[in-house]
Amino acid sequence: MKGKEKVPMLTAYDYTTAKLLDEVGVPLLLVGDSLGMVMLGYESTIPVTMEEMLHHTRAVVRGSKRAMVIGDMPFMTYHISVAEALRNAARFIQEGGAQAVKLEGGEMMVETVHRLVSCGIPVMGHIGLTPQSALQIGLKAQGRTPEEALRLVKDALALEQAGAFAIVLESVPFALAEFITQKVAIPTIGIGAGPGTDGQVQVIHDMLGSYTDFVPRHAKQYVKLADLIRKAVAEYTQEVKAGTFPTEAHSYKIDPQVLEEGKKRT
Ligand code: KIV
Repeated sequence: MKGKEKVPMLTAYDYTTAKLLDEVGVPLLLVGDSLGMVMLGYESTIPVTMEEMLHHTRAVVRGSKRAMVIGDMPFMTYHISVAEALRNAARFIQEGGAQAVKLEGGEMMVETVHRLVSCGIPVMGHIGLTPQSALQIGLKAQGRTPEEALRLVKDALALEQAGAFAIVLESVPFALAEFITQKVAIPTIGIGAGPGTDGQVQVIHDMLGSYTDFVPRHAKQYVKLADLIRKAVAEYTQEVKAGTFPTEAHSYKIDPQVLEEGKKRT
């Protein structure tokens, strides 16, 4: 799609949402470790485990017929050794049913990316603001000094060289993201990186306005689902209390004769 059409990508964490996104034609679904916050209520992505990721990956895979499903490798599941990275990435493919994995890091991940790709596992890179390194770099935009910008260009080139099929650029200045996009032959997928990348990714809860703890500056809320949900649930609660739900229309019928027979027997 690079150079021909922009690539829309969204996160998905459950069957129902994945099915809807797939029906609309979103080509890439990321089971992001952001599920730690938006699905599980953790404060960051750091506590997310392989088991949690696999559980959600399987649900997304069940919901998608056409989209490519990418499993996000959680913190410390690909750092300890290349062998461990291989074992965990393979679990996403074999047990989770994903078609690719994503991992954070640039040049330092080259050996791992190269090995995964040589073993038949497509890898998406992720550089810029990498939330798994938040304890070191914080959650702020990256690439705003000449040194950081150069580092990111080198990281992108190194990931491409290692065989990554695409790179997420998170929270990097628009002009730098555009420059990197022109430098590499593989697609760049931006989040908070401006319109110059080959594609865009958003956390589904951010674009639907359903996660209210924190709304990133780069998110656009296409709907405010939180308000709609609160309104619907308040209406339901009020109707149950008032006895106006359920009505007969929501109830199952029984043949009066069967009812009479049942009454006689009790
Ligand atoms: O975990 C996630 O949702 C991500 C995207 C924001 C790229 O990594």
